[in-house]
Amino acid sequence: MVAVGIVGIGAYVPPKIMTNEDWAKVVDTSDEWITQKTGIKERRISEKDVCTSDLAVFACKKAMDDAQIRPEDVDMIILATSSPDVPLSSTAGIIQHKLGCINASAFDINAVCSGWIHALEIGSKFAADDNYENILVVGAETYSRIVNWSDRSTCVLFGDGAGAAVLQKVEEGRGILGTWLHSDGKGSDVIEIPAGGIRKPISSDNFNEGEQYFHMDGRAVWDFAIEAMPQAVRNVLKRVHRDLKDVDMIIPHQANLNIIKAGMNALNLPIEKTFINLQKYGNTAAASVPIALYEAVEEGKIKSGDLIITVAFGGGLSWGANAIIW
Ligand SMILES: CC(C)(COP(=O)(O)OP(=O)(O)OC[C@H]1O[C@@H](n2cnc3c(N)ncnc32)[C@H](O)[C@@H]1OP(=O)(O)O)[C@@H](O)C(=O)NCCC(=O)NCCS
Repeated sequence: MVAVGIVGIGAYVPPKIMTNEDWAKVVDTSDEWITQKTGIKERRISEKDVCTSDLAVFACKKAMDDAQIRPEDVDMIILATSSPDVPLSSTAGIIQHKLGCINASAFDINAVCSGWIHALEIGSKFAADDNYENILVVGAETYSRIVNWSDRSTCVLFGDGAGAAVLQKVEEGRGILGTWLHSDGKGSDVIEIPAGGIRKPISSDNFNEGEQYFHMDGRAVWDFAIEAMPQAVRNVLKRVHRDLKDVDMIIPHQANLNIIKAGMNALNLPIEKTFINLQKYGNTAAASVPIALYEAVEEGKIKSGDLIITVAFGGGLSWGANAIIW
């Protein structure tokens, strides 16, 4: 087996901060409710002329600089997103053009909040192949434009941002040891945008109903997530023949502090073994894990040789985890 690892990492969030108090001026909510239920204090919101691809480009440039590669060195761009610039064509293609990655193929994947976990696994398979050297794996989202700004049960939970990693072959014993992925399509409507696809094309009727926006059954997601997170961690460890006691750091999807606490409790691990930044950014969907990973590295929380588990869960329903030796 050829070893593949992350050799460069980057992240970007737009500068505009929206606090819980700011949301309380828009919908009937409070800092107290949001903090108690989620741990989120603020999130970043893109300006109107900024798209998901723009956030991704900033994150990719940082990751490419970190890996010391040029745009023309990139062989493939895999973007995980559920808030693309346009429904068709791929936002990865737009990113390729903006970056000048003239030798790359580019495509999107959509596994909602667990998208980057999936993209990392796909990218690692290509990077192991002789025909590919540098794979750019990006998670980027602009949820501020797909949530309904009058639905308090969802709008306060999300934020915008992007994270990216460059994958290359690395020395044996390091890098991505393995991945565990799973889906349960029975729950595909638990998190969805009901209109705007083929089943229900956009019309004035569904505009009146707000069906062009993100919808979620929060309780159902909660019940799913508190099981999914520990299950994914246990299963990836089993797959790579490691134990929970070997884990140095878990980088969880930054949806909700209470979900992370419940998940760590189920794993019997202290909360200190996680990196948490959701208080600053809210849930940035497919961007949340790579942004958290980037910040954990920047803050010196991850050392060379550490066993890191990245884990996420969300729409699909889909969930999974990667085991990485840093
Ligand atoms: C969303 C979530 C925080 C809601 O918490 P909850 O305890 O399930 O809350 P409920 O939906 O039962 O609502 C409780 C009350 O708060 C109200 N409420 C909902 N959103 C509110 C808000 N932003 N501010 C104030 N009150 C709010 C509800 O209307 C309800 O009021 P009622 O009792 O008068 O009917 C929780 O279900 C959750 O975290 N789910 C997972 C969501 C998630 O992480 N999704 C992304 C996964 S990738």
